[in-house]
Amino acid sequence: MADERTFTRVMVTGGAGFIGSNYVHLLLERHPDYEVVVVDKLTYAGNLANLADLDGDPRYRFVEADIADAEAIERAMVGCDAVVNFAADSHVDRSLHDPGGFIRTDVHGVFVLLEAARKHGVARFLQISTDEVYGHFPEGGESREGDRLRPRNPYSAAKAGGEMMVNAYVETYGLDCVITRGSNTFGPYQYPEKFIPLMITNAIEGRPLPIYGDGQQRRDWLYVRDHCTGVDLVLHRGVTGEAYNIGGGNEQVNLDVATLILDRLGKSPDLLQHVGDRPGHDRRYALDTSKAEALGWEPRHDFSIMLAETIDWYAANEGWWRTIKSGEFAEWYDRNYATRGAHIG
Ligand code: NAD
Ligand code: DAU
Repeated sequence: MADERTFTRVMVTGGAGFIGSNYVHLLLERHPDYEVVVVDKLTYAGNLANLADLDGDPRYRFVEADIADAEAIERAMVGCDAVVNFAADSHVDRSLHDPGGFIRTDVHGVFVLLEAARKHGVARFLQISTDEVYGHFPEGGESREGDRLRPRNPYSAAKAGGEMMVNAYVETYGLDCVITRGSNTFGPYQYPEKFIPLMITNAIEGRPLPIYGDGQQRRDWLYVRDHCTGVDLVLHRGVTGEAYNIGGGNEQVNLDVATLILDRLGKSPDLLQHVGDRPGHDRRYALDTSKAEALGWEPRHDFSIMLAETIDWYAANEGWWRTIKSGEFAEWYDRNYATRGAHIG
């Protein structure tokens, strides 16, 4: 078992987003003596409401900055001994429309953070990556950390590029870095462009649920708290230079997940609407998580229970997502779904 590290001030980039904000809460809960500096550009996906309960907590500071802005990052990193980089453009469909923006944040932004970490002598840098860097695994089998990376869309290629930069800083400058590769994550505060919150909120609104292609694609769903405990373990116990798969061990067919959501909300299956497929759509992801398990991690949350709780959370927090859906989201929805031939209602 690797030694347990401790830190005093952790920079969490992308901490106003879905997984980042859940992680900030877990970090302060598990390590009450730590300070956290959240750095976030507050893009369409960043939402300070996700961190509102921390206002006034002396352990928490928020800095609005772009991770690609070297000066701002160097200022914000003063006194930090660890960096956890969640900041990213994270939606595959958006990467099909604007690949350049993804390179800027998910590759160049990682470089800017690494360079600042090197200059500041940061003790540990954790890069949040994704199972998508392996590309898809259409039938049987699971991706292992030593497998070749074969990303197939601009988002996953950019995330793989970020990982390569991290590896370069380990080998060239001896920076202490670790990487996590998480699977599809769900839970409260997820921006409703992603599959599960989109299906839930559309169902509540009585709008069609757009299913790409045949809907038989499979994803390995991981509850957000389990993703965060995996990240925290790797931050504290991961071996320098290593990557760790963090997966739910819970493969589900997209169409089945959408049907479960409709059932729970008492809505008609007639709301399911097959639409044009995502170009380069990865058919299936699956992870071998034995390496993270050897560090002491395991996913503890049951999928159907947490899906039901997540549906209930969105039903109880309509204000949170209705505000989002009435803003920039509406323009995105028209742009993405009109081209798929969806009757977006
Ligand atoms: P998200 O889109 O909800 O949040 C991303 C956050 O990063 C937002 O707060 C946004 O404002 C911020 N951000 C974006 N560009 C920035 C920039 N240039 N500078 C500073 N901040 C910026 O994403 P998420 O789903 O919480 O994903 C977080 C991380 O986890 C990403 O790195 C993603 O690749 C990875 N990941 C996500 C999943 C998933 O299923 N959601 C699974 C595995 C890995
Ligand atoms: O696997 C980890 C990745 O999971 C993360 O790295 C990404 O940040 C995250 O966005 C997610 O990527 P996916 O492309 O798998 O997630 P998304 O929620 O966009 O889609 C999940 C599945 O549902 C996928 O097969 C596409 C399908 N889908 C999605 C949307 C938005 C639909 O059928 N209809 C939709 O409207």
